[in-house]
Amino acid sequence: MSSQKTTTAERSEADSVACEVGDGIAWVKFNRPEKRNCMNPKLNRQMLRVLDELEFRPDVGVLVLTGEGTAWSAGMDLKEYFRETEARGLGATRAAQREAYAWWRRLRWYQKPTIAMVNGWCFGGGYGPLFACDLAFAAEEAQFGLSEINWGILPGGGATKVARELLSFRRAMYHALMGETIDGRTAAEWGMVNEALPLAKLRDRVEQVARALLEKNPVALKAAKDAIRRVSEMTYENAEDYLIRAQEAANSFDNEGRKEAIKQFIDDKSYKPGLGAYDKSKQARSER
Ligand code: ACO
Repeated sequence: MSSQKTTTAERSEADSVACEVGDGIAWVKFNRPEKRNCMNPKLNRQMLRVLDELEFRPDVGVLVLTGEGTAWSAGMDLKEYFRETEARGLGATRAAQREAYAWWRRLRWYQKPTIAMVNGWCFGGGYGPLFACDLAFAAEEAQFGLSEINWGILPGGGATKVARELLSFRRAMYHALMGETIDGRTAAEWGMVNEALPLAKLRDRVEQVARALLEKNPVALKAAKDAIRRVSEMTYENAEDYLIRAQEAANSFDNEGRKEAIKQFIDDKSYKPGLGAYDKSKQARSER
């Protein structure tokens, strides 16, 4: 991994994202610590490549998105994403937007469960990938802010939408208009992240959650995470119908898993679904 002294000018596109895979978990890092991991076009392009490469790898069951250094991400790069692309005209601006939104969208509907591990600063455009991750855990020391108002723009690139998805009306309004930061603990209290922990304990907790996810049926995880996002925009009737169809579609990818799970509970009495996941390895053995 590159040293923190590397300047952005020297840092290659490939080096703007770091990635390690181990024991079923892909640890993906924003890797511009010297620029507080703000997102420039290079990073956005590279992140989409990395997500693409990892999505269907059999050795990856969970993806964790975190940041190198003191930041998770200081939002969009004010120089390279805004000033320099705007100077090249509307076409360049739209192209840069597409590159950023493309990987956030990809992450929102990612095949594997995703966890944001927010180790430090998280501003503005960073709310896009924050919301794109299914779960989020933050350091108590992390600082979150919609700082757009502090430099004279509205929270765009989805940030306003994220604020309204995750926060109450009053909190979202205060957060967007005041441009103040909140720490990880407040972010957890407001529902922006699942939990806040001291930075020193953050990785262990995220790993524990990732390990628990790795024990679950992956087809069911994908169906459930998409369902949680989709139903928030549906009437009750539409959601009921969508969920029936989503489960039936999931059955066509993995009908044996749930049959094995029912068998282990009803016939073998080897586990209780209310208290934990069935043993997937037995299913794998019986399919061999
Ligand atoms: N865009 C461009 N450069 C940035 C950004 C950014 N969003 N954030 C940090 N940098 C650069 C700084 O210009 C500086 O570069 P330099 O070393 O070449 O001078 C380097 O990163 C380090 O930044 P510092 O400000 O020195 O770091 P510090 O740790 O003191 O402060 C903080 C961190 C609070 C995150 C500060 O950098 C900051 O306020 N950044 C901007 C946050 C922000 O408002 N982001 C935009 C949100 S709006 C949007 O995303 C649409």
